[in-house]
Amino acid sequence: MRKNIVAGNWKMNTTLPEGIKLAEEVNDALKAVEPKCDVVICVPFTHLASVNGVITETKKLGLGAENCADHKSGAYTGEVSAAMVASTGAGYVILGHSERRQYYGETAETLREKVALSLENGLTPIFCIGEVLEEREAGKHFDVVKAQVEDGLFNLSAEDFGKIILAYEPVWAIGTGKTATSDQAEEIHAYIRGVIADKYGKEVADNTSILYGGSCKPSNAAELFAKPNVDGGLIGGASLKCADFMGIVNAF
Ligand code: PGA
Repeated sequence: MRKNIVAGNWKMNTTLPEGIKLAEEVNDALKAVEPKCDVVICVPFTHLASVNGVITETKKLGLGAENCADHKSGAYTGEVSAAMVASTGAGYVILGHSERRQYYGETAETLREKVALSLENGLTPIFCIGEVLEEREAGKHFDVVKAQVEDGLFNLSAEDFGKIILAYEPVWAIGTGKTATSDQAEEIHAYIRGVIADKYGKEVADNTSILYGGSCKPSNAAELFAKPNVDGGLIGGASLKCADFMGIVNAF
């Protein structure tokens, strides 16, 4: 069966000492509880190896990067490969976040490369999809997320698709304080699961974790996670404070 997952996305926040301290806090907080979900923190590249060193609760806390390169290795100054990410001890990588699609021109083509390289290196992609406000207002959100899933992932075999975690993140809800209602989230998560079922069959679809992201916080997490097709959250702002992040983890 599919897993419940709460994953933090620190984005471009925290210096290395601040990041190590935050990771230590989350690691310590997890010692005291038995979370009913997998917990992951996705941190800046510069922090990966050091943060991996402070994670002692390895069964409870996973580590991920926020991106990786679309090439294997070589003359790509400033890029970080999937193999490099994996060599730090990380097990996850966020791919196709709307900020990367919007500000760094990521396309379905580059994302297919990133997904393939991540899987080759044993990383679990957390693949993000979601519509912008105008698309929702025009009623196009279903078509938009369908195209993002098809174009980014439907080249995969059923076996490889089974390794993907999806994150539905309506762009209008990211960092805005405006959360999708639990009914809006459930409606589109169920739709996405249907799209997966049409391609790979019901079993693969039922086993795919689909996270919600966008202004998820301790006060709304329980209602969102109670929906049958919402399998957890990808958490930005609220992952930067241990108490808030743990409040969301403990919402399960
Ligand atoms: P937010 O970000 O929780 O700050 O809205 C979510 C994300 O972008 O992953």
